[in-house]
Amino acid sequence: MAFKLLVIALASALVSAQGPVQCDDMRVRRSAHSLTDSDWQNIQNVVSQLHLDGQFGRFARTHDAVFDNVHGHSAFFPFHRRFVLEFENLGRKIDPSFTIPYWDTTRDYRTPQSSPVLRGAALGGNGEGPQGCLQSGIQGNWTLGFPNRHCLSRRFSGGDGTILPWVPAELISSFIQRDGQLSDFREHIEFSIHGATHIGLGGDAGTRYAPNDFFFYMHHANIDRLWWQWQNSQGRLFEYNGPGAHGEAQLADVIPEDQAVSFGGQAVGSVMILGFNGVCYYYDSAPNPPSRYPGASSDDNGRMKITPVLNATASFSGSSNVASHELEMAGIHRALGEQAGLKEFFPKVALLGPSRMEIYRPNDKCGGYKKAKQALVYPARMNKDWVKMHGFVPERVEKVYRDACRLIDLLNNSTYVSPY
Ligand SMILES: *[C@@H]1O[C@H](CO)[C@@H](O)[C@H](O)[C@H]1NC(C)=O
Ligand SMILES: *[C@@H]1O[C@H](CO)[C@@H](O)[C@H](O)[C@H]1NC(C)=O
Ligand SMILES: *[C@@H]1O[C@H](CO)[C@@H](O)[C@H](O)[C@H]1NC(C)=O
Ligand SMILES: *[C@@H]1O[C@H](CO)[C@@H](O)[C@H](O)[C@H]1NC(C)=O
Repeated sequence: MAFKLLVIALASALVSAQGPVQCDDMRVRRSAHSLTDSDWQNIQNVVSQLHLDGQFGRFARTHDAVFDNVHGHSAFFPFHRRFVLEFENLGRKIDPSFTIPYWDTTRDYRTPQSSPVLRGAALGGNGEGPQGCLQSGIQGNWTLGFPNRHCLSRRFSGGDGTILPWVPAELISSFIQRDGQLSDFREHIEFSIHGATHIGLGGDAGTRYAPNDFFFYMHHANIDRLWWQWQNSQGRLFEYNGPGAHGEAQLADVIPEDQAVSFGGQAVGSVMILGFNGVCYYYDSAPNPPSRYPGASSDDNGRMKITPVLNATASFSGSSNVASHELEMAGIHRALGEQAGLKEFFPKVALLGPSRMEIYRPNDKCGGYKKAKQALVYPARMNKDWVKMHGFVPERVEKVYRDACRLIDLLNNSTYVSPY
């Protein structure tokens, strides 16, 4: 506990040379599923201009350059948070209303190719021809410059225009409430939803220069949203540990950068909290930013006083998608009574008493909830090339996969009905 407080103190000190700076203009990142064709048209206008300005190549080059330090390492979350923000800020110079939508891919996990996000008016579908050149969507027929001159490509993972199943929301919910350590959560996310989605789209999206495909920004906005949910759900807003570039990761570490996309030596500790220090956005389905910088206030002697403002019960966030939150939790709560093995996957749901669940009972009259039993499907395994490209230990990847399958078996053997 003392150690945790010390970490919070250090984090606060890091940004308090001038003190944490609260944003006065907050933008909201919306679900990609909620966008209209005209929203997509606006996005296309911005990304086309960024493309003409050479920004796609610049970001792809940087992602490639820092790749080995920002995957399989703790910098995974803070780097991508800052990197996507940088791109969004450039877009806002072209259109001040531009924000990166997040793509909650769990909603499409069963048959990803049918996602409305992959329609012609949006991201477009699979690539065509031997090169897998993308001809539809907001980046249709683009030629890119990094790492060489080539058409933007997509190669769906399943063949015949299909994408192998992604990762169900229930697994992400379980990670968010189960993982008490950031490094565990980071590994679970990298080995599941992060990899599965990149591999599923394939082509440029499945490479070290994935930022060539605008999908990258939407996917990483979602990963960022999940990290923020975990930070709040666990009451560990400032937790940063695990493998760093030089030994154990620390909040004082510089966010990886290169000459093309640089953050001026900014420290990881400065981007931990949404709503401060230039991280001026929030999500339409994740905890709101705190109204003041958490954990930091001055005592009578002007020293930093540490008051943790969050606790795990208060900030309970069980679902990866708030739209389904109540229904999903009621179903899982019931399933816990049927399959005791589920308790380890949903420790916070297990703490909720039956009376609390009464109010969450699904109401037939509300509709929108699948009537028939809909069994979950297993996600696709991550392929060997992907594991190798990241230098992951195959046994660790396999362990996370088996764990996911066990969760699915348990839910499948209960009366639980998946909303997706
Ligand atoms: C891309 O080019 C193909 C072939 O010329 C054309 O059919 C398609 O409409 C183009 N797509 C876009 C988005 O302009
Ligand atoms: C945590 O939050 C709950 C709900 O707001 C509150 O009842 C409880 O007292 C809090 N616990 C602590 C230790 O602050
Ligand atoms: C889940 O159970 C159903 C039958 O209840 C079965 O058809 C389906 O294949 C199972 N799914 C998995 C992933 O085991
Ligand atoms: C699910 O049910 C099947 C069929 O009854 C059984 O073989 C399997 O062991 C069960 N899986 C789990 C994880 O309980």
